[in-house]
Amino acid sequence: MRHALILTLLVACGGGTPTPTGTVCPDPDPGTLTYDNFGKPFMEKYCTWCHAADIPRSQRNGAPIYHDYDSLLGVLETPDHIDEQAGSGPDASNDFMPPGRCPSVAGGSLSKSCAQPTEEERQQLAQWIACERNRPHTF
Ligand code: HEC
Repeated sequence: MRHALILTLLVACGGGTPTPTGTVCPDPDPGTLTYDNFGKPFMEKYCTWCHAADIPRSQRNGAPIYHDYDSLLGVLETPDHIDEQAGSGPDASNDFMPPGRCPSVAGGSLSKSCAQPTEEERQQLAQWIACERNRPHTF
């Protein structure tokens, strides 16, 4: 019985596959989360250690090329992937990214635990992406 419970918990928490969070930008867009006040600092804190355009393939610690989050344009090239890997919302709570081990300098060797976003930050990420992708951009 006890084992069955533990097994259920393990399956519920540990497994899972990247799933769209189903987050929708409120209409009208409240405009509270922006690239400057949220997206950029979030990416720099958690993601650009591996996902940046200036880190060559050999130093990305496995992060796929063309997933570069050191610019708004880069983020908006794979918004669904970001939502499915790191966002949280009504349909899913995704914590696949960042992974467990991180470099202490961008592109360096894996030497420490990655800082992990809070649940609230993951919800804000999904919310920001949902809104930002619909805003007008000049690029
Ligand atoms: C330590 C380096 C590292 C950090 C930091 C990191 N990633 Fe990754 N990322 C990877 C690796 C390695 C893969 C490939 C993993 C795989 O395919 O299973 C990956 C894959 C991805 C993918 C592509 C998945 C796909 O194939 O569609 C996305 C999107 C992504 N990461 C987003 C993020 C976001 C957002 C952050 C910050 C919250 C982040 N990553 C932080 C290493 C990293």
